[in-house]
Amino acid sequence: MVPDWKAIFRGTPQSETNFATVELDSDRLPKHIAIIMDGNGRWARAKGLPRAAGHHAGMVAMRETIRAADDFGIQALTLYAFSTENWKRPRTEIQYLWYLLDEFFQADINELVERNVRISFLGDISKLPSYSQKTIGSALRKTANNDGLIVQFALNYGSRAELVDVIRMIAQDVKDGKVDLTEIEEALISSCLCKNGVPDPDLLIRTSGDQRVSNFLLWQIAYAELYFVDEMWPDFSRELFFEAITAYTKRERRFGGLK
Ligand code: IPE
Ligand code: IPE
Ligand code: MG
Repeated sequence: MVPDWKAIFRGTPQSETNFATVELDSDRLPKHIAIIMDGNGRWARAKGLPRAAGHHAGMVAMRETIRAADDFGIQALTLYAFSTENWKRPRTEIQYLWYLLDEFFQADINELVERNVRISFLGDISKLPSYSQKTIGSALRKTANNDGLIVQFALNYGSRAELVDVIRMIAQDVKDGKVDLTEIEEALISSCLCKNGVPDPDLLIRTSGDQRVSNFLLWQIAYAELYFVDEMWPDFSRELFFEAITAYTKRERRFGGLK
């Protein structure tokens, strides 16, 4: 039987699940969760499989994570799928990742539309193969009017590249006399970052045991809670996701202030 996740998050006891005793305060749920989906290659190597098999299994884990985020009542999910540094990988691996992106949207777009999910993207997608750009355009169009969970895919995304773009844009405005130096404030910089109507992440999860941020949302995660999972991304599950969110609800966020 599929557990009633929304009820669990409201704190209703669920006798059929392992989470029966878990009581979560829905007011304390993170609004925006960002995930560094790492460890596909190591997962495959441990099983004697090619890296591609790890990426495929990672795509399946991603599908389940999106469903779970929706069931849990999370407002926004940002998934780091390809960094500006990932171009250093073999061409065949990169091509397979774009192929997988397509496969994912072919298979899942109808379910995403039904779930009222709005898709958006971060990063410079103009460097992606044209068929991927078409798929992205189609996913954007099909979900544009949805107002449920927002899922942002970070593709050819690098936080430093994003900040360089913002600095260029603001410098141009200063040069053109549209912005005064005194107007360059945190709020202005924030407003120039690609937001898609999403607040800064409350919780950043990274799988695979590595504890670094790898050029992901550097500005935006200034006060995010960090949560590291030892499992490789293909082994990430609803249960692990639930654990991460539960841990988050118990953290005390002070934002530099006092308790
Ligand atoms: C994450 O898994 C997926 C991408 C970066 C595209 P990796 O491919 O980085 O897997 P590991 O880190 O080599 O195990
Ligand atoms: C971060 O993983 C990027 C993605 C998950 C897309 P990497 O595997 O590229 O990060 P490093 O190289 O271990 O820092
Ligand atoms: Mg990696």
